[in-house]
Amino acid sequence: MKIAIHHTDRPGFFSKRWIKYCEKNDVAFKIVNCYKSDIICQLKDCDGLMWHFAQGLPVDYMLATKLIATLETTGKKTFPNYNASWHFDDKVAQKYLLESIQAPSIKSWVSYSKKEAIKWVSSIHFPIVFKLKGGAGSANVKLVKDKNDANKLIRKAFGKGFRQFDRLNLFVYSLKRFSIGKAKIKDVIKEFFKIFVRSNYEKVAGKERGYVYFQEFLPNNTFDIRIVVIGNRAFGIKRMVRKNDFRASGSGSILYDKNEIDERCVKIAFEVVDKLKTNCLTFDFLFNTENQPMIAEISYGFVQEGYDDCTGYWDKSMNWIEGRFCAQDWMVEDLITEIQNENKLHD
Ligand SMILES: Nc1ncnc2c1ncn2[C@@H]1O[C@H](COP(=O)(O)OP(=O)(O)O)[C@@H](O)[C@H]1O
Ligand SMILES: [Mg+2]
Repeated sequence: MKIAIHHTDRPGFFSKRWIKYCEKNDVAFKIVNCYKSDIICQLKDCDGLMWHFAQGLPVDYMLATKLIATLETTGKKTFPNYNASWHFDDKVAQKYLLESIQAPSIKSWVSYSKKEAIKWVSSIHFPIVFKLKGGAGSANVKLVKDKNDANKLIRKAFGKGFRQFDRLNLFVYSLKRFSIGKAKIKDVIKEFFKIFVRSNYEKVAGKERGYVYFQEFLPNNTFDIRIVVIGNRAFGIKRMVRKNDFRASGSGSILYDKNEIDERCVKIAFEVVDKLKTNCLTFDFLFNTENQPMIAEISYGFVQEGYDDCTGYWDKSMNWIEGRFCAQDWMVEDLITEIQNENKLHD
């Protein structure tokens, strides 16, 4: 048995820890490069592939889920698996998926017609939340105060379109972080230049247009709850919203105390994972006016360092297992178990 790992040295990515785990535990592994044309050949002697593909990277965007689908079709195991990954960075796809399994998710509305969208916003109550399909750290999430605001967004969505990330928004945010000593001047300058220079990813992905996506606004949420489910384990963090803002994702203000995490979120996350059969899935929860937890979005990926201070995790029976852990180790362990189970079936 051998696993393949696509390695990247960038901070926040899982592969370094995967390799460390394999070395420490004598797991046979091979470093592969998914960006090369001969990747199928590279994988010939491997039973599974681990690839922490990500947002904002052009090849990952073009290739990752297709390669994962290919490998699963031919009997290889993958991290993430296809069920965990096909809707990655696509809130519109997630809307359909969560609705279809009747998961408690925030009411969302999508339109592929300018006329229909303009009619719809004249019939609803404001505020509502506008989102692009993709994005992270709240970059593409806006509060829409009234019909005029909404119509402006609709015209843009069916006109010149949106950049993949709202660069002006990110620049203003970097300035705010700089003013409170949380960002360096070099980060602010970098964000400033990105307003004018399109990244390779933007060149490949093009503009976001041809659809508009709104979500019901859930007021008075001063935080969101992020739950991660890997196999039969779940852990979570509480992310506080930014000052004078309704958005938590990307704020960097994180609470790790177990008592800060509403266990109803953990239960829902386990239930959804049971239905979707994902090997790694994160959930962002907000609370509605009846104080019920509602899913805002899901994603297989997360920034690993953000969870290193978690003090324990829940098992599937909701027992709390106290103590630090390495989530990236679990990813390798689970993949190995899956491969071994598959091999047993064929023995
Ligand atoms: N429907 C909503 N009502 C109220 N706040 C929301 C809503 N959707 C998102 N938010 C807030 O905005 C943040 C970013 O939204 P999210 O959809 O998670 O986008 P991202 O992909 O950027 O993380 C969330 O962390 C949450 O605090
Ligand atoms: Mg989010």
